[in-house]
Amino acid sequence: MPEDEFAKKMATVLSPSHAIDSVELLKGRDAQLSEIRRAWHQIGRQIFIYGYRGVGKTSLAQTAAHQQQSSDQHPIRVICEENGTFTKVVHDIFCRAFPADPRILKQKLDAAVGLKVGTFSAEMRQSIEAGIPPEPKSINEAVLITKFLMSFHSAHPVIIIDEFDMLKNKSEAAKFASYIKELGDSSINVKFIFCGIGEAIDTFFATHESAYRQFHTVKLERLDFDPRLEIIKSASEALNIFIDKTTALRIARVSDGFPHFIHLICEKLFWIIYEDSPDLKVRADHFERAINNAVSVIEPYLKKPYEKATQTYSNDCEEILWAVADDHQLQRPTKEIISSYERIMRTRGKEPLAKNTFYSRMNQMKTEARDSILIGTRSGWYEFREKMMRGYARMRATQERVELDVEHPLQKKKFQREN
Ligand SMILES: Nc1ncnc2c1ncn2[C@@H]1O[C@H](COP(=O)(O)OP(=O)(O)OP(=O)(O)O)[C@@H](O)[C@H]1O
Ligand SMILES: [Mg+2]
Repeated sequence: MPEDEFAKKMATVLSPSHAIDSVELLKGRDAQLSEIRRAWHQIGRQIFIYGYRGVGKTSLAQTAAHQQQSSDQHPIRVICEENGTFTKVVHDIFCRAFPADPRILKQKLDAAVGLKVGTFSAEMRQSIEAGIPPEPKSINEAVLITKFLMSFHSAHPVIIIDEFDMLKNKSEAAKFASYIKELGDSSINVKFIFCGIGEAIDTFFATHESAYRQFHTVKLERLDFDPRLEIIKSASEALNIFIDKTTALRIARVSDGFPHFIHLICEKLFWIIYEDSPDLKVRADHFERAINNAVSVIEPYLKKPYEKATQTYSNDCEEILWAVADDHQLQRPTKEIISSYERIMRTRGKEPLAKNTFYSRMNQMKTEARDSILIGTRSGWYEFREKMMRGYARMRATQERVELDVEHPLQKKKFQREN
């Protein structure tokens, strides 16, 4: 296959740098998709998807939105920004929903008078007639304009409000609760999906408890083992590449359930195979080379704190981080971390740190000077602050030929079943 054809085909099955919007590519989320569909049967009920960074929130939101959105339009997606405001986000929605032709707006405005949307201020009306999306000055105005625009946007409009956690200002976030409630009370035919990192949802509902009734919340976990393998299988099959079971399992394991890592490692691996194997079969050193290539392009928000935490004068923290990542559980008690650490040090033929030094290193990694790469949850339990860091630490360990999480019960079962 010529290179550009291979590249084009690969881009249809692997997407390390963008979210998915098709049900064929979205693996392991069928239950959540039907949960969302069912929740939406209730008029006025909206969806809030939450989970760790990179677990696949936007991909689930986009896929669910495409399933619900009628084919006369695309779903609308807006992204919240740091220091953003309610007005700014809603204004972005209006900009996306505004038809390009102002004549349509004029017609709709005239028709809307009969539909009790006549309370538009002169200023708002002028702006709409001129084809300029107005900035709402209150929640009421925001509701009014949303109702107006959605009445002709499409038969079944869907709006995604993504990265809601970026709205740090609590009172701004709370305005969304009132907005959604108002829209729900007037039985407007529009579906919303909010996405945000875990903590966003606590803040949101803490400030506006009654909003719980308006929302169906979907907690998204890391991908299970089978869907991880499915991503690898369907991508490799589309490119006629042969990946043996051991390599597929190693990719699934090192990814720690974060789909970005699976896409990225597969992309690197498939290119190596393309260049190296005329029969498109994976060879002995390909996996290690793919990991090296993947590690070299990892985003700075993972790479920098990792290096800051590990490249120290004593240079003895890296194996500790690997030990924290050496299990499928996010939180681990010190006792287990130590036993992982001792195993890792044995495989490297190195002397483990004395217990006191080990504890002091663990504590150092909780400090701001080390970007708080680790956090303590309850007494003696540790986890990575940024959960995706686990996958990165696993790739770094693999680079050094240290395999982590080899005893995962699910993997064993899977391995035995398939062999
Ligand atoms: N269920 C899935 N099956 C296959 N690939 C997936 C799945 N979910 C997400 N991905 C892929 O994983 C990566 C991250 O997904 P996505 O951007 O949706 O995550 P996110 O939770 O929105 O991330 P962030 O917190 O950074 O916004 C993307 O490359 C996407 O293509
Ligand atoms: Mg996202």
